[in-house]
This record gives sequence, C-alpha cells and structure tokens, in this order.
Amino acid sequence: MSTERALTEPHPYVLLSAAVSLDGCLDDTGPERLLLSGPADFDRVDAVRASADALLVGAGTLRADNPRLLVNSAERRAERRAQGRPEYPLKVTVTATGDLDPGAAFWHTGGEKLVYTTDRGAAKAARLLGATADVVPLGPALDWRALLGHLRAVRGVGRLMVEGGGTVHTQLLQQGLADELHLAVAPLIVGDPAAPRLFGPGRYPEGRLRLIESRPVGDVVLMRYAPTAPGTGPLPTAADRHWLRTACELAELCPPSETAFSVGAVVVAADGTELARGHSREGGDPVVHAEEAALARTDPADPRLPGATVYSSLEPCARRASRPAPCAELILRAGVRRVVTAWREPDTFVVAADGTGVLVGGGAEVVVLPEYEASAKAPNRHLLG
Ligand SMILES: NC(=O)c1ccc[n+]([C@@H]2O[C@H](COP(=O)([O-])OP(=O)(O)OC[C@H]3O[C@@H](n4cnc5c(N)ncnc54)[C@H](OP(=O)(O)O)[C@@H]3O)[C@@H](O)[C@H]2O)c1
Ligand SMILES: [Zn+2]
Repeated sequence: MSTERALTEPHPYVLLSAAVSLDGCLDDTGPERLLLSGPADFDRVDAVRASADALLVGAGTLRADNPRLLVNSAERRAERRAQGRPEYPLKVTVTATGDLDPGAAFWHTGGEKLVYTTDRGAAKAARLLGATADVVPLGPALDWRALLGHLRAVRGVGRLMVEGGGTVHTQLLQQGLADELHLAVAPLIVGDPAAPRLFGPGRYPEGRLRLIESRPVGDVVLMRYAPTAPGTGPLPTAADRHWLRTACELAELCPPSETAFSVGAVVVAADGTELARGHSREGGDPVVHAEEAALARTDPADPRLPGATVYSSLEPCARRASRPAPCAELILRAGVRRVVTAWREPDTFVVAADGTGVLVGGGAEVVVLPEYEASAKAPNRHLLG
C-alpha cells in the first residue's frame, strides 16, 4: 500500500468515502439522489473534506447527483485559510467521453476545478468547459497511477478524498491504490437489483481489510478500514518488533488523562542505536506528546536522523490544539522518514485524525504492526468506551 509507493513514485494519500444502504447500494434508481446519511454524518464528511487537499468524483456522479462538493462549514474554511491553504479543496473529476455539463453546480462553486481525461475526451471537455477548468489528457486511456502521480507532483496534493461513485471506488480498490476507506452504513434497504453498488465485480487485492475504527454517527455506522495488500509493504524486522514493544511499555508510564492518549515513543538510528525516548505528559508537562518529547532530546544536526525510525505506540498526531505543530509534522521536520506504529488514531479527540496521511504525503513510510495494538491500547482503555 502507500508505504511502498512512497518510496517509488509519490502519490497523495487516497481516502475513499461512501455511504451505502444495508444491501450495499450507493443510490436507488429513482431520479432524485437517495439520501443515505443524516445531518451528523454529513457534518463528519464536511470535516473530512476540510482535511483534504482535493476531492474527486467520477463524471457519472456529476451527471447523476449534480453535487457541489464544498466544505460547507465557514469555520472549517476559515481554519484552512489560517493554515495558508486554499479555502476550498481542489475539485477533480474523471471522464473518458468528455461529456460534462458546463451548467453543473460543480463548475460554479468552490475552488479550482480539474478534469482528468483521455486524449479523445480532452477536446470535447475543453470545448464544453472553456476556462472553467483545467483539462488534463492522460493518453489513450486513463491510468490511475499517472493521475495520482500528476496530482501529487503538479498540483501538490498530499491528501485526496474520493467520493465516488462505484466505478471509481472499484478501480482504486482493485488496483491497490486506496490507503483508507470510510464507509457510512445507513439503516435502510434499497432492494433494487439495478441500483448502483459500491464495489463491482472483479479482482481485488487478497486478504481482509483492517478495521481501524467503527462508531455510530447518528443512525449510521461509520467504519474506517485500511486496505492491506499482503506482500507489498515493507516487512517489519525483529528490531521493529523490539522497539515497538518498548514504545508500548513507555506508554504505561504516562500520567493518566481523561482528555489525551497515553503514548510512548522511541527514536532509533538505522544501526540500532537508541537516539531518544519519551512518553505523553512526561516531566510534569500536561500537554507534551511522546514523539515530541523524544524528538526534543535529539540533536537537529544529528546525521543519523534521516535514516532513523520513530517507533510510536499510537499513530503520530496530524492536528492538535495544544501546540503549533503536530507530531507528524515534527517527525518530517526532524528529517525522519520512517515510522512504525501499533495503532491508527481513532476519532476520539480529533475528527479525521490522519498522521499517516501527513507522513506519507511528506515522503515518509509508515508501517503498522497490529499485533501490538492491544498493548498500545491498554493504558487508554478508559478513553475507548
Ligand atoms: N452514496 C454515496 O456515497 C455515493 C457517492 C457518489 C456517487 N453515488 C452514486 O453513484 C452513482 C454513480 O456511480 P457511477 O459508478 O455511475 O459513477 P462514477 O464512478 O462517479 O463515474 C463513472 C464515470 O467516471 C468516468 N471514469 C471512471 N473511471 C474512468 C477511467 N478509468 N477512465 C476514464 N473515465 C473514467 C467515466 O466517465 P464518462 O462516462 O464521462 O467517460 C465513467 O462513466 C449515482 O447513482 C450516485 O448517486 C453515491
Ligand atoms: Zn502528537
């Protein structure tokens, strides 16, 4: 998955997001779009959108739903501006035919628009859209790897949220290009055999998806999965296991808190030398994080940092209120390009916490060893409900 790709051709972190009925449908066959999510889940989706650099839907969804694809919350847009990011994420669509309605809401709302298409579709799309959107042909057929490489290299997209439809989701999952899947399951049954399904037939990477989190959001249930592609990720070593176990032991030393996780971290050079260690709220600092505490003990000029690994019992944070820089950012700034962790951060304190996305977007590799998840969670039992 993402870890391997980060070492070869840089891609954005790819998050697939969809709402489905209990029988796995994305919609019914009626003329109106079927509302699957409720207000609480639409707000959750809005928060995830606000965390993305770009939002992508297929041309089929544009034609069927006429979506605007905006960050609706003015507060979230203000936060993006304060971070120096565009108010709205870049909006992206894909089409082979170039058959796009220039009057659709997608083109007349929000931020910049981008169309990926084939050589054949480009002329038509450009004629229909004029200056409304950038039209990028990707050859005789649209190759998703080329699309993701272009988004990363030319448009600087580190985090891409894909909102359907099924044709697009199916290809990204089948081609092993999805880093995360958010599935909101709604309590209704469509029952129509002609209704569009989330995932179509075909060959998918083998193995079970790993459940990162599940929780009710109103009357829908959100499930977050990380697709795993056995044999493609970098293999953990015995040393990785030893140091991650050490990080989990450090997590046990944290003063308990009702408002923050207990986490342990170790920074280890490529030759196996421990450079520093830390844990949450150590030394009487009520807000210090484990990775932050450990990195603060390293010498920024230490030439071993670029080859070092940060072992952290919990995925490094992507956003935090208590300090200007989250740990994922501190790790990248320190020059470290490898992180091994036991457990992806649940949405307990931050919605769409995605340190892995920040790290992978910054060129780092992230390895998750789920066999240590239980020990990493142990000191946090009281927070996990
Ligand atoms: N519940 C949800 O979360 C959700 C989210 C989104 C959509 N939906 C539903 O999903 C349905 C639409 O799904 P869909 O599968 O028809 O649409 P889609 O995946 O949005 O779009 C399919 C279209 O995208 C273009 N495309 C996809 N892959 C391509 C490739 N490799 N190369 C070139 N072009 C490519 C093609 O456009 P051209 O035909 O122009 O060549 C294709 O027809 C609607 O009913 C909508 O309501 C539901
Ligand atoms: Zn942190």
